Amino acid sequence: MSSELNRGIQTHRETHPLTWRISAAGGPVVDLDRYIALEGFSGLRKALTLDPVDLQKLVKDAGLRGRGGAGFPTGIKWSLIPMGPDAGQKYLICNADEMEPGTFKDRFLMEDLPFQLVEAMVVSAYAIGASVGYIFLRGEYILAAQRLNAAITAAKNNGFLGSNILGSGFSFELHVHEGAGRYICGEETALINCLEGRRANPRTKPPFPQQAGAWGRPTIVNNVETLCNVPDIVLKGAAWFKELSQGRSSDAGTKIYGVSGRVKYPGLWELPIGTTAQEIVDLAGGMQDGLELLTWLPGGASTDFLMPEHLALAMDYDTIGKAGSRMGTGLLMVVDNQQDIVKVVGNLMMFMARESCGWCTPCREGLPWTLKVVRAISDGQGHQGDIEWLQEMTRFLGPGKPFCAHAPGAMEPLQSALKFFRRDFEKGIRVGN
Ligand SMILES: Cc1cc2nc3c(=O)[nH]c(=O)nc-3n(C[C@H](O)[C@H](O)[C@H](O)COP(=O)(O)O)c2cc1C
Repeated sequence: MSSELNRGIQTHRETHPLTWRISAAGGPVVDLDRYIALEGFSGLRKALTLDPVDLQKLVKDAGLRGRGGAGFPTGIKWSLIPMGPDAGQKYLICNADEMEPGTFKDRFLMEDLPFQLVEAMVVSAYAIGASVGYIFLRGEYILAAQRLNAAITAAKNNGFLGSNILGSGFSFELHVHEGAGRYICGEETALINCLEGRRANPRTKPPFPQQAGAWGRPTIVNNVETLCNVPDIVLKGAAWFKELSQGRSSDAGTKIYGVSGRVKYPGLWELPIGTTAQEIVDLAGGMQDGLELLTWLPGGASTDFLMPEHLALAMDYDTIGKAGSRMGTGLLMVVDNQQDIVKVVGNLMMFMARESCGWCTPCREGLPWTLKVVRAISDGQGHQGDIEWLQEMTRFLGPGKPFCAHAPGAMEPLQSALKFFRRDFEKGIRVGN
């Protein structure tokens, strides 16, 4: 599986902060000595000489935005956590649930570079003053769990983790928590409930986790890829990080992009943020012989479809947002001209309906009904008015109506498919009823 990472491009120290070690080592870096030989824990050594609030400012100045899907500025999130001697117990949680269909970037980072995430978490915990951290890991990621646990033990045995890290006086304990496999556990407040041993449903916001998160204490939740950027930002500075996008985007850094679907070489590539979708599909070798690209999702199953003409767009948060979708996780799912788009939507809807946590009525009842109607249309058994009803559901389950962002996300592929492929839906409506 590792060979699917960066197929066709060699990564470099200066320009590929997330993956250069894999190129340099010729494969996964799962040994502590090897990691240290590749500048491992240098970011931590430097971070421990700085003031935590200055570190927060550095991450803010670097313009790092969350890579978990929403693109929220990381430094701003961190600055909202209480600091100072009276702040008390705080937690850092790494969101490694990664159940978004078509998304497999965090898995590679954790399997191939486990020490990088461990280092990133210690640096980030120091910046926010957290003494305990959790990696909330998707249960199916068995190899990642093994490698992370081994990395945690080795880091602890060598003074990079645990009490009085590198003699700095800073202490941090890190645990891997394996989830039982629910998509909703990726939503940060459902994740926190699950971690506490409660039913995994989202919590009301506010209060946000920064104020009252795990066990009611201030908590920062960040994605794996987001965190992995932090040690190098500390080491090389905000200006260096900003320049990584090479003027392709107002966003900073690189992004692990990827492609799934019937392209020649599905895989992952670390590229300047703002690389065009076409360039990413080209790295995947283009479509398999005899197939044409019909439509694509920019970043997982809860983003809107875009069309072939949108491939020219820069893959960044604002550009894809203006085009009517979201960059999400940045892992493209391509649909080809031999696939039935209504079936594709039905398949995504089946996942989303199954994964509703059932906490709020619109989502619990609305998603299965929507699935039923999409399936009927897909089987050629749709009724007059079904398309209009589906459109109404995309509004009823849209942003702000259900309890969390799950159902609105589920509506994104549907609403865009109805916009771009209405005729395909019309073909499934039975005449005369
Ligand atoms: C249904 C749902 C599933 C989510 N799944 C994930 C996930 O698997 N990984 C992730 O990092 N964020 C996921 N998120 C987003 C998180 O709630 C949160 O925004 C993110 O972990 C923040 O990290 P970041 O700021 O570093 O991106 C999900 C959100 C929703 C609504």
